[in-house]
Amino acid sequence: MPVQKLKQYDAPQPVNWEHYLINGRLEKWDGAFEEVYAPMGTVQEDGTVEKIYLGRSPLLSADKGQEALDAARQAYAAGRGEWPTASAETRLEAMEKFLARFKALREEVSTMLMWEIAKNRQTAYKEFDRTAQYMEDTLAEYKRMHQEGSHVSAKDGIISQTRRGPLGVVLCLGPYNYPLNETFCLLVPALLMGNAVIFKPAKYGVLLLTPLVKAFQECFPAGVVNIIFGRGRTLASHIMSSVDVDVLALIGNSKSSNKLIEQHPKPNRLRQILSLEANNPAIIFEDADLDLSVKQCVNGALSYNGQRCTALKVIFVHRSVADAFLEKFTRAVDALELGHPMDNTPLTPLPERGKVEAMQELVEDAEAQGARVVNQRAGRLNDTCFFPAVLYPVTTEMRVYQEEQFGPLIPVIAYDDLEEVMDSIAQSDYGQQASLFSTQPATIAYAVDNLVNQVCRVNINSPCQRGPDYLPFTGRKDSATGTLSVHDALRSFS
Ligand code: G3H
Repeated sequence: MPVQKLKQYDAPQPVNWEHYLINGRLEKWDGAFEEVYAPMGTVQEDGTVEKIYLGRSPLLSADKGQEALDAARQAYAAGRGEWPTASAETRLEAMEKFLARFKALREEVSTMLMWEIAKNRQTAYKEFDRTAQYMEDTLAEYKRMHQEGSHVSAKDGIISQTRRGPLGVVLCLGPYNYPLNETFCLLVPALLMGNAVIFKPAKYGVLLLTPLVKAFQECFPAGVVNIIFGRGRTLASHIMSSVDVDVLALIGNSKSSNKLIEQHPKPNRLRQILSLEANNPAIIFEDADLDLSVKQCVNGALSYNGQRCTALKVIFVHRSVADAFLEKFTRAVDALELGHPMDNTPLTPLPERGKVEAMQELVEDAEAQGARVVNQRAGRLNDTCFFPAVLYPVTTEMRVYQEEQFGPLIPVIAYDDLEEVMDSIAQSDYGQQASLFSTQPATIAYAVDNLVNQVCRVNINSPCQRGPDYLPFTGRKDSATGTLSVHDALRSFS
């Protein structure tokens, strides 16, 4: 396998970020720091990558987590603080001011999205724009809900008014794959509803958030937004061991959320808003339009290298069309380009340390149990680049089926009877979405009627995805707790 070299571009000026925001004050940290490197860099002949330094961010100690929690608790003041009792107009004004500051940072934040987590140019800007749009839509929905809440009803001799109130202190933990969008999809509704928030970014995708810290400081009252940097096991674990946390809002995986919830002294009191891992299947029926299915499955499985909770993680294909599908599918996968995010190629390097090795291990496990890599270009290209591998025939015993690969591996399973597929989906620990590919309305109708009781969204001749954001986004079993959409998120945080 030849070593893949990437085109070189000038990296942005390093961001040596030394601050954190607690109780309205930007404090300087003088302890340990995490150094941040771009996953792209100079590739040596042996495939090792000399990574590019992008900056550093604080590794705060547990007592800083405690300070952030104290600040949020004081700001909330058992629901009697300035922010939870503020009028809707005051909250809207603060959020609108923040949105204007946010929009001005488009270039800076999107550029860092490319460099820090290797999101290609188009998706980096799209993530930024989608987040701005989400904020605008949330503001509009909040106004609508507020108006609705001001109505007085009279029925059965009771005059009443129903309004939604905040929940308290929210610990908000976002993911590395959508460090901006998914974080803001939690923060914005949480704040608008009057909660006080402690936010800690994920392990990767940290520096891109730093230009926003000052905007938070200047737009919200002291203690309402506290932003801390460092390791989850130091900060989040400590914070969660306090009864003062009312809401855990986490986008990540169930192992982390379970561990954190176990720390809470009164888990029954804790509102959980969790978007977790998934194993979304595509089902290619014998009457599918194969060209359309191939196009949609390549996109669904491999956009952002498969590092999306909504990515298609397994393809079930009817045995009668398996060979024809695989021939077209492997050709389409092998035609993809992998390059520097600035080149806007569909595939890019993988930001997580050890990810290339993790992908290799899953391939080896599948091969040891009888699967083959059926496309030609698959495999490690250097320390941070892995060309997607299509694995076939995969069985439900293989790790790549049982675990969420969250990367460029596509397991394909041939089936004879749809009931086998339905059984596998029913037995899975996950239940987020599924995609169906067929040209026949009757085929689709039967599968939809059965699948809607297994997953939370069924996509027809199209890949799984979260958007558009007016649709409810949730999952069954280990895939989610609570529902997120512009409307539902405001309800979830109140
Ligand atoms: O990682 C999970 C995201 O919510 C996926 O969002 O379907 O818009 O890429 P997306």
